Amino acid sequence: MVGMKKKRIVIGNWKMNPPTLADAKKIFSKIKQLSAEVSGVLVVCPPATYLNALVSSYKGKKIMFGAQDAHWLNNGSMTGFLSPTMAQSAGAKYLIVGHSERRALAGETPEIIAKKVLAGVEAQLTVILCIGEKVRDRNAEYLTVIREDLRECLKKIDKRMMAHMMIAYEPVWAIGGRDAMSPSDIHGMTIYIRKVLTELYDKQISDATQILYGGAVNVDNVADIVKDGEIDGLLVGRDSLIPENIMQIVAVANGK
Ligand code: PGA
Repeated sequence: MVGMKKKRIVIGNWKMNPPTLADAKKIFSKIKQLSAEVSGVLVVCPPATYLNALVSSYKGKKIMFGAQDAHWLNNGSMTGFLSPTMAQSAGAKYLIVGHSERRALAGETPEIIAKKVLAGVEAQLTVILCIGEKVRDRNAEYLTVIREDLRECLKKIDKRMMAHMMIAYEPVWAIGGRDAMSPSDIHGMTIYIRKVLTELYDKQISDATQILYGGAVNVDNVADIVKDGEIDGLLVGRDSLIPENIMQIVAVANGK
């Protein structure tokens, strides 16, 4: 790898922001403009109602789109939900599943998440499965939490389907906070997640699966995280809504 620049994917999770489509278009047009000078891929995950408009306004290859969640069914009497096929037909190539905010606010259980993960893969989306412990206890129980969650959430996914999966490790205590996890601890967690993936599948699949980090990633800490965190990408919340910041994060993640 010496001398080679590692490509890392950056996912921008806009969550329930910004308030209007006009604001979303404004942010996106600045991102588009800045992306011309940056090598590397950014996946923008806007609120579902903005997807179509943003997708239709972009013809390049550096920006892709994702949905923040989808139901596990493709149609039916499911008031208020979005199906994976709808997300796909609106132009999404990626789907975030199991974000800690959905687990906390919408009561998503590993069982529900496992169904959504499968539905996303079946709808030809690349699924970004979010996992992460709520607390980091002294007895390292959090390792068991991560292991069990991975096992449960991936139980419908066979070896072949793993080519369409990414794992986003996001310690819940870091999301929305001031400080990210230390790069050396992130490195430790990626090693652990690969170990679990080897147990669940095999070493080849474990090595090939992209592992991302998320939780308070910003322009100031991204360089250290990519240098020492041993990650294949980043999932960014707040800074993904600030075009200059997110494009700088993409630049740093791809060796500038
Ligand atoms: P944050 O959010 O970057 O604002 O901490 C990350 C996430 O929720 O994915």
